[in-house]
Amino acid sequence: MSGTKRILLLPGDGIGPEVMAEVERVVEWTNRNLKLGFAIERGLVGGCSIDAHGIPLSDATLRTAMEVDAVLLGAVGGPKWNDIPFERRPEAGLLQLRKKLGLFANLRPSLVFDALADASPLKRPLVEGLDILIVRELTGGVYFGEPRGIESLPNGEQRGVNTHIYTTSEIVRVARVAFEMARKRARKVHSVEKGNVMDAGLLWRRVVHDLHAREFPDVALLDMYADNCAMQLVRNPKQFDIILTDNLFGDILSDEAAMVAGSLGLLPSASLGALEDGRRRAMYEPAHGSAPDIAGKGVANPLAALMSYAMMLDHSFNRGEDASRLMTAIRDVLERGIRTADLGSGPGIRRVSTAEMGMAVVDSLARQYERHALKA
Ligand code: IPM
Ligand code: MG
Repeated sequence: MSGTKRILLLPGDGIGPEVMAEVERVVEWTNRNLKLGFAIERGLVGGCSIDAHGIPLSDATLRTAMEVDAVLLGAVGGPKWNDIPFERRPEAGLLQLRKKLGLFANLRPSLVFDALADASPLKRPLVEGLDILIVRELTGGVYFGEPRGIESLPNGEQRGVNTHIYTTSEIVRVARVAFEMARKRARKVHSVEKGNVMDAGLLWRRVVHDLHAREFPDVALLDMYADNCAMQLVRNPKQFDIILTDNLFGDILSDEAAMVAGSLGLLPSASLGALEDGRRRAMYEPAHGSAPDIAGKGVANPLAALMSYAMMLDHSFNRGEDASRLMTAIRDVLERGIRTADLGSGPGIRRVSTAEMGMAVVDSLARQYERHALKA
């Protein structure tokens, strides 16, 4: 790879900085040893930005995020900022980043590592070998629809309003990402909506089918209502390969799919924009949130953040092989019984801190590249 690649790290709040420190450890190791040419920059988003600047996302940070080659984010939010009005809360910073960078396709893989099949609340045979990819629409739907707000009515009541809204082109572009991904996987997409009660869901179904018939007849397309999907995910999760869905259902179903796979601490994500002049804006973040209850204790699981970095290597920098090595290192560490607290305990399990987990992954990575160099 030639030239410098600018990476912006936004650790955020709660456990964000702790897990991001482990990402930095791995970024530094890979940068040095694989000559990736990454130049690291840092910024504030969420509550820490409110404390420093009074707003969850400053113009300067937004500008940097628009310029760099990729953004890595930790987590935002916490009880300290709960009483702030909605549009200035930490989460608003994250939503603005997604919207302003145009990151409409959110990929959330839910993978079951063999060593962790017993960490799932479901029985081992149901989840062994599970590999689901949720493609969640990220810049539309009820998250951004207008009108919205809380208003006072003449009769003294208040009314809260949100609007769930999708246009044809918004549906087409995210569905296309799902179908393209399907061609690299099992060629099967479940499109999930509530077209039985929602007009936007009905439109979703029609538009997805039109695109499918026009461009992707080689991919199997199945429709499923969101409530049924929530049920099927715990009844028989292995029926799914790719789940394509809207912003709100994707938020809910991806938490469920992560837990089916063993822990929220294991769900990475990539948020991608449109391809323009060979370049795609992208942000990578673990989906676990800021977990204020365990923040600062050094017990958080950094693996979702590390897997998000693997997704960055793959999607933003075309380093699929290095991404696989990082995933292999994570698998290896888990197979050796090394676990953060969220992954359970038992015979043969060594409970480690956030930092020890990061160091174990770097060790395993280093050993892999050594073996590879010896063979070459
Ligand atoms: C997620 C989170 C966010 C969302 C919050 C923090 C705004 O739950 O990324 O899944 O709802 O999208
Ligand atoms: Mg969520």
